[in-house]
Amino acid sequence: MKTMKVLLIGAHGRTGRLIAQGLHDHAAPFRALLRKSAHKSEFAALGAEIVLGDLDQDFSHVFDDITHVIYAAGSSESEGVHEERAIDRDAVMRTADYAKRRRVRQLVVVSALTAFHPERNPLSLRHYSRMKREADAYVMRRGVPYAILRPGPLSDEPARGTIALADETTVDMPDVSREDVARIALRCVALGVRDRVIGFVGGNEPLDAVLDTYAAVTA
Ligand SMILES: NC(=O)c1ccc[n+]([C@@H]2O[C@H](COP(=O)([O-])OP(=O)(O)OC[C@H]3O[C@@H](n4cnc5c(N)ncnc54)[C@H](OP(=O)(O)O)[C@@H]3O)[C@@H](O)[C@H]2O)c1
Repeated sequence: MKTMKVLLIGAHGRTGRLIAQGLHDHAAPFRALLRKSAHKSEFAALGAEIVLGDLDQDFSHVFDDITHVIYAAGSSESEGVHEERAIDRDAVMRTADYAKRRRVRQLVVVSALTAFHPERNPLSLRHYSRMKREADAYVMRRGVPYAILRPGPLSDEPARGTIALADETTVDMPDVSREDVARIALRCVALGVRDRVIGFVGGNEPLDAVLDTYAAVTA
C-alpha cells in the first residue's frame, strides 16, 4: 500500500475532532491544521503533526508531503457573510489549488445539503449555501480527485452507523450525527472514493453498505 499522510483542515471543529480521533484510531498519519496554539496538546495526544495557520491567509505551506486532504472547517453560525465567503468558499478553492499543485491523491470536502439548492433555503442560509455550492463547483472542475459530502443538519448525537442518501429533491431532513459524517469522510479516504458528490441525512441505511457503492473502481 502506498504511504499516505492526511491533512485535516478544521481539525478542532466539532466534526474535525471526530475525524482526528478516527485517524488516530486507524493509525493513519495526519497533520492537523489549527489556528490556535492552545489546541495543540489535544492533537499531539492523538499523534498528529500540528501546523498553525489561518484559512484567511496563505496556507500553502501546510501541504508538504500530503497525499489526502479532508476539509472540515466552516464559518460559525454567528459570523456572517465575510466569514462564509472566506471559509466556506475561498479557502476551499485555495485548498483545491494547493492540492492540485502538490498532486494530492484525494480531496474530501464537508459541504452541506443546502448547496444542492441555495435559493430554496430560508434567507439566513442562502448566502452560506451559495458559497458552499460555488466552492463545490470549483473543486469539481479543478482536477483533483474529490469526494464532496453534503450532509443535512448536523447533531452531536452518537453515531447511528446509518444514513439516507439525499439530493435536491429531498424535503424531509432528519439530523445526521457529526460522528457519522466523520465516519463517512474516513470511509471515503479508505475506499478512494473519487469524483462523487454524496448528499445524505439521518436515516436507516447502513453507512458502510451505502459507501461501498461509491468505492473507486480499479482496473
Ligand atoms: N451546522 C450544521 O448543521 C451543518 C450542516 C451541514 C454542513 N455543515 C458543515 O459541516 C462542516 C463541519 O461543521 P461543524 O459544525 O462540525 O464545524 P465547527 O464545529 O463550526 O468547526 C469549524 C472549524 O473551522 C475552523 N475555522 C473557522 N475559521 C477558520 C480560520 N479562519 N482559520 C482556521 N480555521 C478556521 C474553526 O477553528 P477554531 O476551532 O479555531 O474556531 C473550527 O475548528 C462545516 O463545513 C459546516 O459548514 C454544517
